[in-house]
Amino acid sequence: MKVWVTQPVFADLVARLRDYFDVVTTDAVTAYTPAAIAASLHDADGALVSIPDRIDAAAIASAKRLKAIANIGVGYNNLDIPALTQAGIVATNTPDVLTETTADFAWALLLATARRVTEAERWLREGKWTTWSFELMLGQDIHGATLGILGMGRIGQAIARRARGFGMRVLYHNRSRASVEIERDGNAHYVDKDTLLAASDHLVLALPYAAANRHAIGAPELARMKPTAILVNIARGGIVDDAALAAVLAAGKLAGAGLDVYENEPNVHADLLACRNVVLTPHIASASSATRRAMVALAIDNLIAALGQGPHAGRPLSAINPEVLPKRTT
Ligand code: 8YV
Repeated sequence: MKVWVTQPVFADLVARLRDYFDVVTTDAVTAYTPAAIAASLHDADGALVSIPDRIDAAAIASAKRLKAIANIGVGYNNLDIPALTQAGIVATNTPDVLTETTADFAWALLLATARRVTEAERWLREGKWTTWSFELMLGQDIHGATLGILGMGRIGQAIARRARGFGMRVLYHNRSRASVEIERDGNAHYVDKDTLLAASDHLVLALPYAAANRHAIGAPELARMKPTAILVNIARGGIVDDAALAAVLAAGKLAGAGLDVYENEPNVHADLLACRNVVLTPHIASASSATRRAMVALAIDNLIAALGQGPHAGRPLSAINPEVLPKRTT
């Protein structure tokens, strides 16, 4: 069987795939066109793909041998899941292994933005620190503030748990209310979205991307937020209307934003780049060495199992569309 590995990802881990399959891969990080994806999937039985690789309906329709797509990432809006399911192709993702690392990074962005860490460093490196002054780089407090979390899945819950150390009140909104245990664990109080926007001193987005979530934070939502608030997005580009965000930041109607994801990655909206009060990182929230390795290892286990090989043959650990797996008889 032939497996396509779209990007260079930890060669020592990818070597495990060679125990079972012919592996086609590349040494260069590659931005594929839809046609290039379709051409490579054409005669592949499986593929190990990353978030920038869009697996669309046309590629799926022409990939007659394809049986499994293993996504290295918990989010999977790069995959056309209905088309994969209809074609009987298993899709898998990498939940859990990145939860804590991603939650850590949400805090890194929140703290860096609220306390103007990157802005202050830029200013210092530019040689502007000629004399110390009392009102230099005044920021927003985190401790004792009200933290809002939009999206209370695994990552949202891990973000909430960390708020205890800062003595924060935690509010959240989610499609459905979380269990009593989760609320207790994160000391988190459920509120409607409008209340969340208005009452949060700082707001972190941790919801998955879906068409219905496009511009969940747009001009009307930003207008409801406190002008002293910090917005953090570690979720997905497109959940925030980047142009609307840049406009409120430039107008001083929001204190700052910490962003790891963007509408048109890897291109960042020019108006955001022009904003002083925004911390911008290149989609690295899960990028600790240990976690990125754990994500690849899980995706590889999933692919081996989804292609009917290895100790978990036919039973990948995290299938997105388990309904296409063969029914178990035992
Ligand atoms: C990764 C992510 O950067 O898991 C996700 O959904 O966005 C990030 O953890 C990405 O998946 C790498 O492909």
